[in-house]
Amino acid sequence: MLDIKITKTTAPREKPQGKLGFGKVFTDHMFIMDYTAGRGWHDPRIVPYGDLTLSPACMVFHYGQEMFEGLKAYKGVDGSSYLFRPDMNAKRTNATNDRLCIPQVSEEDYVQAIRALVQVEEDWIPTDPGTSLYIRPFIIATEPYLGVDISKNFLFMVILSPSGAYYESGLAPVSIWIEDDYVRAVKGGMGAAKTGGNYAASLAAQVKAHDEGYAQVLWLDGVERKYVEEVGAMNIFFKIDGTIVTPQLNGSILPGITRNSVLALCQEWGLPTEERLISVDELLEAQKSGKLEEVFGTGTAAVISPVGKLRYKDDVMVIGSGEIGQLSQKLYDTVTGIQLGKLDDKFGWRVKV
Ligand code: PLP
Ligand code: COI
Repeated sequence: MLDIKITKTTAPREKPQGKLGFGKVFTDHMFIMDYTAGRGWHDPRIVPYGDLTLSPACMVFHYGQEMFEGLKAYKGVDGSSYLFRPDMNAKRTNATNDRLCIPQVSEEDYVQAIRALVQVEEDWIPTDPGTSLYIRPFIIATEPYLGVDISKNFLFMVILSPSGAYYESGLAPVSIWIEDDYVRAVKGGMGAAKTGGNYAASLAAQVKAHDEGYAQVLWLDGVERKYVEEVGAMNIFFKIDGTIVTPQLNGSILPGITRNSVLALCQEWGLPTEERLISVDELLEAQKSGKLEEVFGTGTAAVISPVGKLRYKDDVMVIGSGEIGQLSQKLYDTVTGIQLGKLDDKFGWRVKV
């Protein structure tokens, strides 16, 4: 149990008005905790949001020893504030930490830190449809040292951002570029970890996709460049001839919490689900024979995002009629319904702040 010291700002800022984008506005406070080798995590505190002072030699700036997470707080229909499966973010944080030689954080402390900060910032949880308070926990290596090594000092922080839809298009289907040149991750690498390097590795392909009019990149496996893995900021699902298919967790894709929730819901509804290898050739064939019924991405920021078009080299696969598919809509309504407390929470996913 953390003993969190809270210092409130004397200059609270105006809440944003009108349409919220994603991740552009930050709240009045942030959580910080230090790690020092030999002492462990210490000095948990909530302080006014502001700039950091760090040595330019901090190891995070040079070798990228860092991790981040993403979850959301929602204002429920009963007026209470809720988180969605924060224990899963805590577990994934420690899995990422292990991969990047960052010290573990107790799961209870992690969730306590997030709840304490959201409690201070409850007024910042937006209530318009499709909006929520995006929560970004992250850890950076702060030892000033230029040798390639494990840092002796770290900062764990949480910042908050009232946000709307991740994609400008909202729930309208997005177009996705299947990348056949660049790769994001390989087995044995850090693709299953949530760390900045994976996203830095994705940017060149994202620029290429944007230039061609596509919202994000769908990555192929790094070895054969044959099997689909995941999208820039979400996992990917296909409904092929009635079966819900998603790439298996093979060590190079992120084990998404929304992915896990969608699989559980589909199974509860009695729909056949498969986690397996999915080749682009299989998708092209399914689309040609009319069996590729729906494609959607899943993620905290993206929620359930329908995909209306996939491009692979010169082949363009158009999926559906330009509207969100039936299953995608049902999943969106159910996931957000549980998050907002509109629907019964059979799985115990909703956590009161
Ligand atoms: N894959 C990547 C690369 C992501 O950045 C995200 C977003 O967090 C996801 C998948 C979806 O994960 P989750 O559902 O836990 O947000
Ligand atoms: C999230 O969905 O929380 C993510 O981390 C995606 C992010 C890269 C925008």
